[in-house]
Amino acid sequence: MKREMIIVLDFGGQYNQLIARRVRECNVYCEVHPYTLSLDKIKEMNPKGIIFTGGPNSVYKDESPRCAKEIFDMGIPILGICYGAQLIAYMMDGKVSTAPVSEYGKVEVDVEADSKLFENVSSKTVCWMSHTDYIEKAPEGFSITAHTPACPVAAMECEEKGLYAVQLHPEVMHTQEGAKMLSNFVYNVCKCSGDWKMDSFVEASIESIREKVGDGKVLCALSGGVDSSVAAVMLSKAVGKQLTCVFVDHGLLRKDEGDEVEAVFGPDGPYDLNFIRVNAQNRFYDKLAGIEDPERKRKVIGEEFIRVFEEEAKKIGKVDFFVQGTIYPDVIESGLGTSAVIKSHHNVGGLPEHVDFKEIIEPLRLLFKDEVRKAGLELGIPEYLVYRQPFPGPGLGVRIVGAITPEKVWIVQEADAIYREEIRKAGVDKELGQYFAALTNMRSVGCMGDERTYDYAIALRAVLTSDFMTAESAELPWEVLGAATRRIVNEVKGVNRVLYDCTGKPPATIEFE
Ligand code: XMP
Repeated sequence: MKREMIIVLDFGGQYNQLIARRVRECNVYCEVHPYTLSLDKIKEMNPKGIIFTGGPNSVYKDESPRCAKEIFDMGIPILGICYGAQLIAYMMDGKVSTAPVSEYGKVEVDVEADSKLFENVSSKTVCWMSHTDYIEKAPEGFSITAHTPACPVAAMECEEKGLYAVQLHPEVMHTQEGAKMLSNFVYNVCKCSGDWKMDSFVEASIESIREKVGDGKVLCALSGGVDSSVAAVMLSKAVGKQLTCVFVDHGLLRKDEGDEVEAVFGPDGPYDLNFIRVNAQNRFYDKLAGIEDPERKRKVIGEEFIRVFEEEAKKIGKVDFFVQGTIYPDVIESGLGTSAVIKSHHNVGGLPEHVDFKEIIEPLRLLFKDEVRKAGLELGIPEYLVYRQPFPGPGLGVRIVGAITPEKVWIVQEADAIYREEIRKAGVDKELGQYFAALTNMRSVGCMGDERTYDYAIALRAVLTSDFMTAESAELPWEVLGAATRRIVNEVKGVNRVLYDCTGKPPATIEFE
């Protein structure tokens, strides 16, 4: 049976898979394809609509990605988002230029006209913007349907041709009525009927893993974080004792975390797994000594990880498959496809070229964090594990700005433990997407007990997010920040100043490196 579909054409934006996911949430099947997809292929796929994604380029530069102009004459409705919107404007002879004022983050958008795209959307609506170029002048035949103080054409359309363009990002959760806009596009504009339901991802994955692995041996990199725990339990359901989980304590874990992970996945925990803990702290500290560059640090940690696994694998005997809990934001932010590299997530871009396994299995590669959690619950993993704070593979390595030393690791572990305890005590933890302490590389002058100090500044961070692609800094109660600050400077030697990070993502990222 032919089902209706929307195609997302990828121009290198950070949120491409998120757009596809939002469309699927409208019960319409959606796939992401490179912008180079041929018109013949598009015709063959017979989509009900096409979405152009954002991207890091400027449309007016010669080398920038473009599609064939004939795409606009195919009679298929098109929605351009950000770069995609600018591309429509540029190719239809409008004007795109560098905006006098860039907009990053939340912006109130005035929706001006009676557009199918904005049906039931408030006339003033909070949207997420992230752009340096803008549409200065809409092409002839297009009407402007939204604007902001800095952006005269925040949305435009030519209803007759089925062309719609928005500078804002309807796919991210911080665009408050974004889901409505995308739903309007697929239902009002593309006339979809909504014939697609999300298959049981977990069941299908277990089945395909079983088929792929056969009677091979599998090694899983278990960090104890949500993603790798879900991947490990999924693999364990698929192949049972053919799986061995290796947990590397790289010395960059949160306070007491090594023991906590062992308590859950080790021999005394609820799972029947082959579990190996490798204490490799000094090995990592030696390799990282003196390295300041964030990307270099990530690569060193990633590479050392793989080497440790390879060694463990050799001890086990022939290992065919290696499992990682990579999730979608890790893939996209490591700059695969046409997206810009934001940072090399250690289980993707940080992989060394030579990896001594037949194949790598990443069963969560297309999921977002909240979807991983749903999969975890479906697998019967207890809620307290599923809703753990996300923790990056390179651990505190990306929460210590600059070179890593054991002393700095101790400082950030202690400060972070205090901060998390104060947040939990205040009962605000459930509302937050992620919260942690980081060690800035800044030292400054203080005065403690009549003595001059010259010590480090700790940065506290708490963000609201569910997809981890965009985030807002949380407005924590002052008492919580005050209590954490007092305890950190009193209890953690080497710290004399505590700062709160008020930045969203974008323009910052959640982690510091
Ligand atoms: P950023 O800092 O990129 O983080 O805004 C987004 C989310 O991803 C987590 N993160 C990582 N997870 N390996 C991981 O498994 C990594 O290298 C990595 N770097 C960041 C981060 O904690 C946040 O939840």
